[in-house]
Amino acid sequence: MNSADSSPAGLAPAHRALSLWRLRPFVQPYLGHLTLMTTAALLATLAGAVLPLVTRQVIDGPIRHHDRGAVIPLGLLALGFGLVEAVLVFLRRWTMSASALRLESDLRQALYRHLQRMPISFHDHWQSGQVVARTISDLSQIRRFIGFGLIFMVVNSATFVIVGTMLIITDPPLGLLVLACSAPLAWIMYRFETGYRSRSRRVQEKQGDLATLVEESSGGMRTIKAFGRRDLVQDRFHDQATRLRDLELGKVRLLAMIWAIVESQPQLLLAAIMLAGSYPVVHGTITLGTLVAFVALFLLLVWPIESMGWLLATAQEASTATDRVFEVLDAEPAIVDRPHPMPLVRSTGLLRFHNVGFTYPGAARPVLHGINLTIEPGETLALVGSTGAGKTSLAMLVPRLYDVTSGRITLDRHDIRDIRLTDLRRQVGMAFEEPTLFSASVRENLTFGLAGATDDQVAEALEVAQAGFVHELPWGLATRVGEQGLTLSGGQRQRLALARAVLGRPPLVVLDDPLSALDVHTEARVERALRAVLAGTTGLVVAHRASTVLLADRVALLVDGTIAAVGSHHDLLAGDPVYRNLLSAEAELGAAS
Ligand code: UTP
Ligand code: MG
Repeated sequence: MNSADSSPAGLAPAHRALSLWRLRPFVQPYLGHLTLMTTAALLATLAGAVLPLVTRQVIDGPIRHHDRGAVIPLGLLALGFGLVEAVLVFLRRWTMSASALRLESDLRQALYRHLQRMPISFHDHWQSGQVVARTISDLSQIRRFIGFGLIFMVVNSATFVIVGTMLIITDPPLGLLVLACSAPLAWIMYRFETGYRSRSRRVQEKQGDLATLVEESSGGMRTIKAFGRRDLVQDRFHDQATRLRDLELGKVRLLAMIWAIVESQPQLLLAAIMLAGSYPVVHGTITLGTLVAFVALFLLLVWPIESMGWLLATAQEASTATDRVFEVLDAEPAIVDRPHPMPLVRSTGLLRFHNVGFTYPGAARPVLHGINLTIEPGETLALVGSTGAGKTSLAMLVPRLYDVTSGRITLDRHDIRDIRLTDLRRQVGMAFEEPTLFSASVRENLTFGLAGATDDQVAEALEVAQAGFVHELPWGLATRVGEQGLTLSGGQRQRLALARAVLGRPPLVVLDDPLSALDVHTEARVERALRAVLAGTTGLVVAHRASTVLLADRVALLVDGTIAAVGSHHDLLAGDPVYRNLLSAEAELGAAS
């Protein structure tokens, strides 16, 4: 997915245009505005281009004939054109950024919306730093191009044509000389562009890698410090940062070279014009005014010539950025509604696995195979298995975080892939092994899946999860937690995640090892409360301890990705040696309770 630039060098300009063309739908709403701005810029250029002609009139007329009176109207005319140019430049500058900023924000939101629709498997495979780099820096590059580069490319090209034509009209031989000397510049630009393309792509990739490193190390700071591996992380970062610097330097070198050529070109041309132009003036074939007008016109071309290299670079970067953004936007969200999804208001909670198999995308071997299970409405099934057996994988299939790769799962006898996804997920309350809290208040975290939850519902969920500790936090339910807030302990996080899962009593509760981080006393209390909740709903509970298993009506034993046995805890304990082995350390505890 981080495919390097593979287009043949010769296709670069075409490729660039094609990539940028894909921004069309996003540019559409601002097309009117952009056209207006471009027109303003063009008019300003035209107004500027008239000035040399007025100058010629002044030199060849009043100055030559010492006619002071005639200078005034021509001077006023020049002043008028100058004013018009100034007003137009102001208007353009003033409004230029607005559209571009809005466009950037639109694109960013589209990208984020798309990321939210992507299945977990997408996020498993994309480095988070790459996603961050694409939503932040790539989009800024696109904005810079649309808001500035694009307009000037149009205006500069128009300036070339308009002023070029005027040069030829003013003095055909000199005009042709200037245009002929400009041709090599076009070729240099073309070469420059193809080299710049692959470099800027590599820089952008590297920025993404670096962002990933920073993100990983800030997330894993505890581990890094605990193992005293600051040096290692530092070295790795140093390597990557140095490589990025080298790549950037390569880019700058190329840019410096092109600037040197581009900068010297107008000076050389100017010298040539002076040399070639003075003869006809001396011999009287053209007037002094014409030569002055010619030089003034030519000076109008200097900025467009100089900026073209830089503009092409901006276009290049924007095109690479567009490619990278569309790599994300083009990824198909694999888990979506079917054409006419079935609505489901409230499920009875009858959950069935029919010969279910599951292979992680890109993995060689299936994680789950031949799973047949029925969980009756109101029943709780405990899922027991050694570590890596596939318990979490199985739990994630229920709310379609991943889709089965063979067989099917039904809820109320409907294939869950036929049920409207939002409805399905509303039926399932889920708590994960590693609970995630967002940077928000405790209350916002709790009501994440049920925005309109009442105070009573929140209180009930907190009671079930034995999460009364939240009332002792500095600002109670309004306390901010997560990355930008108070850091909660593992057990506290787990209890909040549990409260979030049971909030509003969903008909189906899937708990992945919900009690692992709790002390014995809290565990006993949570279990008591959970028992009450599970009595009213269908539950699938991944369990490692006998005490949790006892919450369930039946137990399924998962061995090597398939169900090896189903039965009551006591039956399995008596009849299944694997099961006995798994829970043996706690078997006595279980029997005693
Ligand atoms: P699980 O994560 O389903 O195992 O991974 P588990 O039973 O819940 O294990 P514990 O008890 O929490 O430790 C099952 C297999 O799927 C692979 C893992 O490597 C493991 O072998 N797996 C998991 C993937 O290939 N990709 C993933 O994204 C996750
Ligand atoms: Mg697990």
